[in-house]
Amino acid sequence: MTNCLDEMNTALVGLQWGDEGKGKVIDYLCRNSDVIIRFQGGNNAGHTVITGGKKFIFHLIPSGILHKNKICAIGQGVVIDPEVLLDEINNLQKSGVSVTPLNLKISPYSHIIMPYHRIIDSLREQKRIEKIGTTKRGIGPCYKDKVSRCGIRVADFITPEKFALKLKDNLREKNPIFKEAYGQEEFKFKSIYTKYKKLAEKIKPFVCDLTEYFYQKQKKRFLFEGAQGTFLDIDAGTYPFVTSSSVTAANALLGSGLPYIRIGKNLGVAKAYTTRVGEGPFPTEINGKYLEFLQKEGGEFGATTGRPRRCGWLDLVLLRRAVKVNNINSLVITKLDVLGGLKKIKVCTAYKAKGKKLKTFPYYLDKICPEYKEFSGWGQDVSKIKKFAKLPKTAKIYLNFIEKYLKVPISFISVGKEREEIFRKEVTC
Ligand code: GDP
Ligand code: IMO
Ligand code: MG
Repeated sequence: MTNCLDEMNTALVGLQWGDEGKGKVIDYLCRNSDVIIRFQGGNNAGHTVITGGKKFIFHLIPSGILHKNKICAIGQGVVIDPEVLLDEINNLQKSGVSVTPLNLKISPYSHIIMPYHRIIDSLREQKRIEKIGTTKRGIGPCYKDKVSRCGIRVADFITPEKFALKLKDNLREKNPIFKEAYGQEEFKFKSIYTKYKKLAEKIKPFVCDLTEYFYQKQKKRFLFEGAQGTFLDIDAGTYPFVTSSSVTAANALLGSGLPYIRIGKNLGVAKAYTTRVGEGPFPTEINGKYLEFLQKEGGEFGATTGRPRRCGWLDLVLLRRAVKVNNINSLVITKLDVLGGLKKIKVCTAYKAKGKKLKTFPYYLDKICPEYKEFSGWGQDVSKIKKFAKLPKTAKIYLNFIEKYLKVPISFISVGKEREEIFRKEVTC
């Protein structure tokens, strides 16, 4: 019997507020893929892969790069901080991982994060009445320039005369704003141009028209690596407490520039509980001893900024919405091991507002009262288990409930942070 997951092009997305363990799952799934593509976001993402005790955190490069004979690509929907990208390439090379123009391809249509984007991200956040808690990596301001049609694309960046023109144009607009609205020193064209021209020369060999390149390679198996999570999506998320890109599976083809690829599986990754970094509503958020427990056992500290992650119980109402928003047909549940030490585990099965159960998904999540169902914990280490049948009965009940509630099969269960601590839950087609 064949396994459908191995044969289909797959879009993998986070179903919560990011950090669901996407990096680890991509690293596992890419064994059956030829091409792994990031399609949105930037270095606000931090995707962790732990192998043999060594930790790799990917911010821009797809998590498949650790595997030989794979092509990794950064699509047109991504925003690239060139210094971060070059550091990532250098660090991987120092660790003995091959990163060359043969296995890393960057779209000429991706946009470049400039120093003024990073600075305005911080300054804007300081002034904001409703703070978002951004990663301060310049993501929002870079996407803003893209849509305003004054952004600098990779193609412009590697073409000196275009780069000079666009940089001048941007500084002419931005310097007075920086000075007057924020009392900041003006940016100097020459220093930025000189520094960034050198970075552009290093990036140039990796630039490749992905739309043309992969057109001839449609028989290859594609894995689309989502960043962030569904409720950070600019449209579907808890706006304005979101990121600035389209995170959901529908953007996989547009953001990678490969409209001719057929995606067979939309794979959603969810933690066995919920976390969030930054501000914004979080109905099942917990505090006190359970928060401390999850932060400690789950290592819930941001892979990009190191900030402690807010933690809460699994929210099935939220996940049911994410399943619809992404048209998810297969699930991965991660971090099952983290709940191992708890006697009781809660799961949100309904939302209430003003004492009444809600029948539809609410527009706002900030005044929601979750209704919980309680489960018994499994009280044991499950990280060495390799088969669903071998899981403690209570863990099986927990997972079966999730599947039944969401009406979507679980295809993989991750039970530890190491590369091999994940197994398939016998899904066949
Ligand atoms: P991503 O952004 O979705 O790729 O997730 P991050 O890498 O930011 O955060 C997930 C964290 O959980 C990382 O530290 C992973 O090493 C870790 N992790 C992933 N899966 C598991 C798991 O099943 N169990 C445990 N204990 N840790 C996991
Ligand atoms: P991965 O791919 C968790 C959050 C930030 C902030 C909001 C907006 O690792 O899952 P931004 O800098 O994007 O303008 O910040 O989005 N955020 C993430 N939270 N994981 C991420 O990525 C995130 N990327 C952005 O904390 O609340
Ligand atoms: Mg992360």
